[in-house]
Amino acid sequence: MPSARILIVDDEALVRWSLKERLNEAGYDDVFEAGLASEALERIASSEIDLVLLDYKLPDGDGLSVLKKIKEASTEIQVILMTGFSSVENAVEAMKLGAYHYVNKPFNLDEVEMLVQKALETSQLRREVRALRTSQGREYSFDAIIGSSPAMQAIKALLARVAKSPASTVLLTGDTGTGKDLAAKTIHYNSDRARRSFVNITMSALPEQLLESELFGHERGAFTDARQQKRGLLETGDGGTVFLDEIGEMTAGLQAKLLRFLEEKTFKRVGGLADIRVDVRVIAATNRNLEQEVSNGKFREDLFYRLQVMPIALPPLRERHGDVPLLTSYYIDVFNREFKRHVRGVSQEAQAMLEQYQWPGNIRELRNAIERAMLLVEHEWLQPGDFTTLTRTVTPAEFKLPHEGISLDEVERQLVVQALERSGGNQTQAGQLLGINRDQVRYRIEKFGLAAKS
Ligand SMILES: Nc1ncnc2c1ncn2[C@@H]1O[C@H](COP(=O)(O)OP(=O)(O)OP(=O)(O)O)[C@@H](O)[C@H]1O
Ligand SMILES: [Mg+2]
Repeated sequence: MPSARILIVDDEALVRWSLKERLNEAGYDDVFEAGLASEALERIASSEIDLVLLDYKLPDGDGLSVLKKIKEASTEIQVILMTGFSSVENAVEAMKLGAYHYVNKPFNLDEVEMLVQKALETSQLRREVRALRTSQGREYSFDAIIGSSPAMQAIKALLARVAKSPASTVLLTGDTGTGKDLAAKTIHYNSDRARRSFVNITMSALPEQLLESELFGHERGAFTDARQQKRGLLETGDGGTVFLDEIGEMTAGLQAKLLRFLEEKTFKRVGGLADIRVDVRVIAATNRNLEQEVSNGKFREDLFYRLQVMPIALPPLRERHGDVPLLTSYYIDVFNREFKRHVRGVSQEAQAMLEQYQWPGNIRELRNAIERAMLLVEHEWLQPGDFTTLTRTVTPAEFKLPHEGISLDEVERQLVVQALERSGGNQTQAGQLLGINRDQVRYRIEKFGLAAKS
């Protein structure tokens, strides 16, 4: 990486000269020198330096404190420490403080050159990963959250505030497909944690024991398959965000451990004794009604309140029909690009249908419906018939009160009968067809004197 800028800090001119010669030969043209710690720090403050070769003993300061100051100025700068005597403790200390490596004096120039090259490669790699992360982050700008309804405007403002707040725990609630994942990532990528990792785990995906070790890590031998020590997500997410999806599915044992972590900021690996402290922002999400889970005794009340510090409830699409046209045209754009189509929009009839539809799968369902329609379509304007995936296209709006009036009781009775017929007598399923629960179905069976089949 010959365009790198290297600073040699050593009070002996001869050492500086031999290093500089060697690095120049290796193709590094921008090599600077400093004989004093103060000079070195000035240089670092005034110009971009990628790597410092730092003598341990300087007339005006010791290497470790200079190293500390360099790292304070910028964690990006790689430092290789040159020690006059081999002291293991110093070397260990230097590595702890963020030195890339150390070499013992008198050093072997080949070794120094190789270390310099490796250190620079490491920082180059880091830079690439960071660039990747930020470009990934761009996908999660607030503009990518579509919605101009007052409800969505308020949500966006709230997300922005939360992103900027230091580390508050967040609880995202909302039905499936309302954008909980998207909201969690948007918070992360717009916070000052954006450069660190966003890790996520779904509570329902794994059995309790595995989940626990995924989350908290484990020590070697903690259980039969634990052949090696493993860091958990809380550790890999240090400095970043940990997204706990489907928190309502968490088992009682894990709930207790999570609560302890949220309160004390420390945890123990499975089978471990040491308390490990990390700095993560926890974002939890659920499509269940946690309050109800609490009253059913399925979710710890204290954990609920601990998560509830910053609750964000994502409204279902059916409560903000005004956003449907916007989302529709957004996704038509997306899939025009992806499938190289030239769809211009939806017909008036289709628009009306989409706006009346209840969207049980929310934005995910809308996105999929448009994707599906656009895969097959040949015409420029999408028609009602192009949306083949929508589950319940019949909406109450299509019922018309007959001119002569109608008996509501009779309509209700017929619908309940039909629902029970279709579900083969299964009251829960019949209830789903009618948007009511099983008890309400049973009540109507009694009310209308219908023979309950099962
Ligand atoms: N406001 C929005 N604007 C644009 N796209 C959105 C919006 N909200 C959600 N989406 C998109 O809808 C899809 C579903 O969203 P997401 O995965 O965040 O839902 P979820 O609430 O996590 O659902 P689940 O509970 O099923 O996990 C994703 O493709 C997401 O990008
Ligand atoms: Mg999700």
